Amino acid sequence: MIGENVKEILNEQINKEFYSAYLYLAMSGYLSEIGLYGFSRWAEIQAREEIDHGMIVFEYLIRQNSRTELKGVETPKLKFGSPQEIFEQIYEHEKTITESINNIAKLTENECDLATRKFIDWYLDEQIEEEDNIHRILKKMKNFGTEKASLYLIDKELGERKYSAHFPTNS
Ligand code: FEO
Repeated sequence: MIGENVKEILNEQINKEFYSAYLYLAMSGYLSEIGLYGFSRWAEIQAREEIDHGMIVFEYLIRQNSRTELKGVETPKLKFGSPQEIFEQIYEHEKTITESINNIAKLTENECDLATRKFIDWYLDEQIEEEDNIHRILKKMKNFGTEKASLYLIDKELGERKYSAHFPTNS
């Protein structure tokens, strides 16, 4: 049984995950337009993962016989600049998502909703991984510069990313 406050915050999280998917898709489209196909592929896979994140919360609400209230997804606020500037925006965005997940964890503790508290642990781990991945890419761009040759190599590496659905083991 999920209380009203937890239900509301989980519904908001579904929206945030789908907004994230839109953000990465917008980024993917732009990066493909400027010929950075590897960066574009990386962002497209990231968008797919964000949809998974939203779906996991959606399915959790259903399993808990709780109402799902889908809200409209905003147009992404992405300033199209250099790949480094885009990744800086993405890193900031992921930090806000981590804050949302932390807020869910705090709320479930305050409301003694131990099942949702346990459920949200997977997202806490996922955010550590996401922030780390994005920060590593940013560091590479800062360390090796954004000259064409280094950008080409990073683009090649990012283009090798493969999508695989990853879900919590209890979902
Ligand atoms: Fe689903 Fe990138 O957080």
